[in-house]
Amino acid sequence: MRARLKEPWELNVMRQSGGKLAEVVAILREAIAPGITTSDLDRMAEDAIRARGGIPSFKGYAPAGVVYPATICASPNDAVVHGIPNELALKDGDVISIDVGLIFGGYHSDCAFTVVVGEGTEEVRRLLDVTEQSMYEGIALAVPGNRIGDIGHAIQSFVEPHGFGIVREFVGHGIGRLLHEPPSVPNFGKARSGQLLKPGTCLAIEPMVTLGTHRTKTLDDGWTVVTADGSLAAHFEHTVAITPRGTEILTALDAKASA
Ligand code: MF3
Ligand code: CO
Repeated sequence: MRARLKEPWELNVMRQSGGKLAEVVAILREAIAPGITTSDLDRMAEDAIRARGGIPSFKGYAPAGVVYPATICASPNDAVVHGIPNELALKDGDVISIDVGLIFGGYHSDCAFTVVVGEGTEEVRRLLDVTEQSMYEGIALAVPGNRIGDIGHAIQSFVEPHGFGIVREFVGHGIGRLLHEPPSVPNFGKARSGQLLKPGTCLAIEPMVTLGTHRTKTLDDGWTVVTADGSLAAHFEHTVAITPRGTEILTALDAKASA
């Protein structure tokens, strides 16, 4: 499947898709508090997506044969990505990553964020801030004329001086008529390397960062990815469109052109 949008209306539908997802993300952010379960958040997400005319894109997804059963991924503490929602209540100090995607008008958007329930330690707050900022460092370089490697290089050179690990086995991706399209968007790499970025390309840029090493393992449920060393992890993701006028973050609430 081609990763570039050919027609102006396609970008408009991507904008609508991303705008709806931004609203869903805002609802989930608001709801996170001690006592709520990730299954509660999953139901809220599905209701909010359907109320906006969208379809949850993760539910039923089975790239390696194991069907993903939920609308959101909810990855607490040492879980990095692809955690399956459950009936355990969140509690003060939990670090929780929520990833959610939808299809609207045939076009996908994908977004993730991490928060700490309550105050959190200073180290945890720094992990979240650095991971989120690294995503924006990558987005800032996702402009026509740059290359895929420029994005990963920007993320890596922002994160590593903090002594944190950057996950390698899971990467960002092209997005559009499919959830995962070429090209892969690693969160590490060499500047001026890889595919040239052209207007019309939409990317999901999603750094995953740990307080320990970059190594991960997948649990027996076939989905949940945890840090190999048990360290805490954070994950942020936006869907962006590379346009002739710069780069638009499609899944931000106040979506507007940046850079
Ligand atoms: N943002 C996640 C990713 O790109 C979405 C995973 S979909 C799931 O990997 F179905 F695998 F959960
Ligand atoms: Co993604």
